[in-house]
Amino acid sequence: MTDELKNLTVVAFESRMALPLQRKLEGLGAVALVAPSMKEVPLAENSKACAFFEELEAGTIDLVILLTGIAARTFISTLETKYAKERIIRVLATKTKIVVRGPKPTAVCKMNNIPIFATAPEPNTWREILTILEEDNSLQGKRVGVLEYGISNVQFLEELTARGAVVLPVPVYQWALPDDLIPLNRAIDLICAGEADLALFTSANQATNLMKVAIDRGLEARLRGGFYRTAILSIGPVCSERLNDLQLFPSAEASPNKLDTLVELAARKGRMLAEKKKKRAKGFEVRIKFPPPLRGGGEGEGGHEITLSPTLPPQGGGGSNDSPIMRACQLKPNKTVPIWLMRQAGRYMAEYQMIRGKVGFLELCKNPDLATEVTISAVERLGVDAAIIFSDILLPLEAMGVPLEYREKEGPVIGRPVRDLESIKNLSQVDPHESLEFVLEAIRKTRKNLYPRIPLIGFCGAPFTMASYLIEGKGSRNYIPTKILMREHPSAWKTLMQKLVTVLADFLNAQIEAGADLLQIFDSWVGCLSPEDYAQYVLPHTKRLISGMKKNVPIIHFGTGTATLLELQKKAGGHVIGVDWRVPMKDAAKRLGKTALMGNLDPVVLFSKPDVIRREAKKILKAVGKKPGFIFNLGHGILPETPVDHVMALIDFVHSWPA
Ligand code: CP3
Repeated sequence: MTDELKNLTVVAFESRMALPLQRKLEGLGAVALVAPSMKEVPLAENSKACAFFEELEAGTIDLVILLTGIAARTFISTLETKYAKERIIRVLATKTKIVVRGPKPTAVCKMNNIPIFATAPEPNTWREILTILEEDNSLQGKRVGVLEYGISNVQFLEELTARGAVVLPVPVYQWALPDDLIPLNRAIDLICAGEADLALFTSANQATNLMKVAIDRGLEARLRGGFYRTAILSIGPVCSERLNDLQLFPSAEASPNKLDTLVELAARKGRMLAEKKKKRAKGFEVRIKFPPPLRGGGEGEGGHEITLSPTLPPQGGGGSNDSPIMRACQLKPNKTVPIWLMRQAGRYMAEYQMIRGKVGFLELCKNPDLATEVTISAVERLGVDAAIIFSDILLPLEAMGVPLEYREKEGPVIGRPVRDLESIKNLSQVDPHESLEFVLEAIRKTRKNLYPRIPLIGFCGAPFTMASYLIEGKGSRNYIPTKILMREHPSAWKTLMQKLVTVLADFLNAQIEAGADLLQIFDSWVGCLSPEDYAQYVLPHTKRLISGMKKNVPIIHFGTGTATLLELQKKAGGHVIGVDWRVPMKDAAKRLGKTALMGNLDPVVLFSKPDVIRREAKKILKAVGKKPGFIFNLGHGILPETPVDHVMALIDFVHSWPA
């Protein structure tokens, strides 16, 4: 026996070679659990697929949606066990319309000469399928088949139904769950508890089945959280791809793709990769009820509570004053460059989608438990140095009596835009403890559950950005009504800005009281103004907001398109000035002198390969040099389709940089 894996808990999901793999891992000193996760199903037993084919042949299916290549391929192979290939192709080509999500199902169609009716454009998610079908108005009353391999996409099916389609999910699979689920459930519990150090996947379908069982047990969030602390090893590229699709990112991949190579990889790098993963998760506390664990044994029936203790000593309730972010705000030197990302909790992340699949955006903002979960899971998933409370800058507008709605394609829309003195006067004053209490409660809950060393950022929109949303009613390119009001009715403008400042100052003060450690003021739209206009119409109001804080917590003052405004923004106030990518960091540092800075990677850089991401991040880090008082961030919010693994590559790189 060797001891490369000594004291490491290793789970694996291999079925056929379960026993030899178990022996091998134990031979390396591991506490091993090989939990078979699949059983081969003869294709001919997929009776639903055949029944669906009969409907297709009868001409009663209007659309067939192919989400993945594997679903498309398995569907055709299944039918081939019963029907002649020409008949299958003829039916698919002539009796229905085929809609594909991306390049892989497209390739399957091309290979089989099946014409494609419509293809979802980049980034090839199910949302783009909805968009193209909506444009055609092709869903109302239509019978739509959706081929599904393993996991059902409930949110997509619901959205189709909501648009008037009769949805027929068609499950196809070659690998079902094993008859005995006990070992697999035990592996899931171990991972959820953060007790597994390594997880070995020896085929792609194991990942699908593992996730399916976790979803069925209501444990998806826990399993994902557990994987923040478990290094994943994949047997090869196909397996890695499926893991990536599920946003369970493998730490390493065997090459060549053989079981022996995988075990050897685990022996060689497993310990280091597991430690790296645990370090990144920063030791958040998790309390979960679980069946008896693998080790120790002997416990009685029923669950017991497991507490993972933090790896770093707590710094006292919310007193994260010495954390790298707080130090940067105070211009104190740091050992590593702190980083967080605007909009770090959002649609690009499976953890967020999971919750958003069940509730609307406003509902999510107004539910303190869910807002807390989303806030914290972003920090855990990414390993960033700060949390930002999950909420939205526009919520205070609703509290002021303006109808607010978030639409799938358009974004936020304000029911009655405010464009004259009369409607400005009608805006209500706001007691944040009443109409924004849900935000305050989410802050309290997050502060209580968040790892103590991680500061929590509270926020609001700046008066100008809030005023322009109120006046425009939605996103804008030219800000015509805003600028007309500002210039033609300066006293109405002043009244509006003053009213907003009062509401926002009360709200920010309440956020501090609830436990926010620092604050950010988002002036996302201010870049449309000249310096003169800014100085006259905006600066005094933002200044009054910032100076209205009753307690001296650090304030990040952020804007975009602010190349000509930075000095004026500094004058308005804030301990940290947020800079977007259009200004070189070196220039910003020179112009702003002794002020902490935050920024300024172009969010679109994250769509490039990790090498490019590191190259671009390095330029910023070099430009900042040894100057204390720097927080790495994007120049603006993270975009909805950003690859999560790219985001993590950025964070790892910044953390590896000596400040
Ligand atoms: O950073 C975080 O993780 C915290 C949450 C946060 C959100 N919005 C969540 C959100 C923060 C800090 C904001 C601020 C915000 N909201 C700003 C300022 C920052 C910026 O990006 O300029 C602005 C202008 C808004 C207004 C807003 N809210 C828009 C324009 C949109 C639609 C566009 C989009 O990104 O989808 C929103 C909706 C919104 N706010 C979402 C999220 C996660 C997406 C809603 C969804 O789930 O569909």
